[in-house]
Amino acid sequence: MGYKLLKSQREFLEIPHDYSIDVAVYQGGFGSGKTFAGSLLGILLCLKFEGIRGLCGAQTYTLVRDTTLQSYFEHLENMGFVAGVDYEWSSSTQSLTFKNGSEILFRHFDEPDKLKSLNLGFVEIEEMSDVPFSTFKMLLARLRQTQKKEWKNFQYRIFGHTNPELNKGWVYNTFVDNPMPNYRLISAPTHQNIYLPEGFCDELKKLYDEKYYNIYVLAQTGDYDSGLVVKGFREDNVREIKYQQDLDLHITCDFNVDPMSWILAHKSEDKVFFFDEIVMENTTTERACEEFVNRYPNHKGKIIINGDASGDNRSCTSEFTNYVIMKKTLAKFGYEADVKIRAFNPPIKNRVMAFNSKVRSTDGEVSVFIDKKCEKLLYNIYNLKYQEGSSRIDIPTFQQIKHAKELKFLMHPFDAASYLVEYYWPITL
Ligand SMILES: Nc1ncnc2c1ncn2[C@@H]1O[C@H](COP(=O)(O)OP(=O)(O)OP(=O)(O)O)[C@@H](O)[C@H]1O
Ligand SMILES: [Mg+2]
Repeated sequence: MGYKLLKSQREFLEIPHDYSIDVAVYQGGFGSGKTFAGSLLGILLCLKFEGIRGLCGAQTYTLVRDTTLQSYFEHLENMGFVAGVDYEWSSSTQSLTFKNGSEILFRHFDEPDKLKSLNLGFVEIEEMSDVPFSTFKMLLARLRQTQKKEWKNFQYRIFGHTNPELNKGWVYNTFVDNPMPNYRLISAPTHQNIYLPEGFCDELKKLYDEKYYNIYVLAQTGDYDSGLVVKGFREDNVREIKYQQDLDLHITCDFNVDPMSWILAHKSEDKVFFFDEIVMENTTTERACEEFVNRYPNHKGKIIINGDASGDNRSCTSEFTNYVIMKKTLAKFGYEADVKIRAFNPPIKNRVMAFNSKVRSTDGEVSVFIDKKCEKLLYNIYNLKYQEGSSRIDIPTFQQIKHAKELKFLMHPFDAASYLVEYYWPITL
């Protein structure tokens, strides 16, 4: 067939380990040969493992049809394969079948539940960072086609390609931050692709600012820490924290209908330990209390409620009412709770400073600890940013939330946790 692969494409195709599953992402700039490599790999697997079943998809079907599938057809043509002889394309089932019985289904991932009954030998994911982590995990669990005797050195494969994420997301967390030994990220800058027209990268350089160029051409992961609201948060701030039924338990609250954000903590004289969170969509204060009691039915120590002092326009009802509702609802379950909040909220920048100085003080002391269970709080810590060039926090707009639902969890959980920190360890400017 006469292809000469780029260095990163070869690395992507060849598995350097013997785990039964290989998980690989080709993280490249624009035109760095991502789709080329992915579709070639799909075909090679079909030819090598007779009767294998693969799934190739993207979040939207247009992307599958207009990009990925076209690239499959180009490869088939370059290989001299003839439609109807060497392979069949069925537009009714959207699948490609080879003479040896191997098959690839082309699908979008918009309704992942529809893919739940498949048993697959490989999965290809186009634009992986646009696909939710939950879909990725579901697809991983579909890799269970029965292996055939004739398949030599077979390994299940899930492989994707993507541009680096703009914000720290699951691809970074899974492949860079904490990768398992069978997870691989292959980085491919655009200028490595010698098959692009001359001057292609120079044109892009003129078009983009440095940040975009670094991400979309040099394929570098973004500088995810720049502009973050929470500074100095590192691995030593994350630790397993055991809930203790005899210790005082703090519930620190930000009241919203969607999402209600409460973080649970123990604290000492100078340290706070966030061990769980109650972040619920479309809910009420009563229901969140019930959730609390369900999770912690036998608490013996005191319960102290901290949180938002104001009844601003984000609240479902006035704060006074919310705290009264909490006390009453908890009392129904036999819990007595004290409310400890400020008479009014300090400026948000004071609260941010108070939080940051407990995360890591100037002399390096760490006093905020968070358990991994507090998923949404950690999401805030890693993603909540200032608007570029300003000291205002970049709160997602309604429109942005419509496009990316996880954004609605940005801000409120951080608010909740920081109310407690500011209450006990205020900073006066
Ligand atoms: N090994 C190769 N041999 C020949 N041509 C190649 C090779 N790798 C990539 N190309 C060509 O380079 C061009 C860009 O490749 P491709 O479309 O796969 O990049 P991409 O990273 O998917 O781009 P995009 O960012 O637009 O999705 C295509 O024309 C492709 O055919
Ligand atoms: Mg592509």
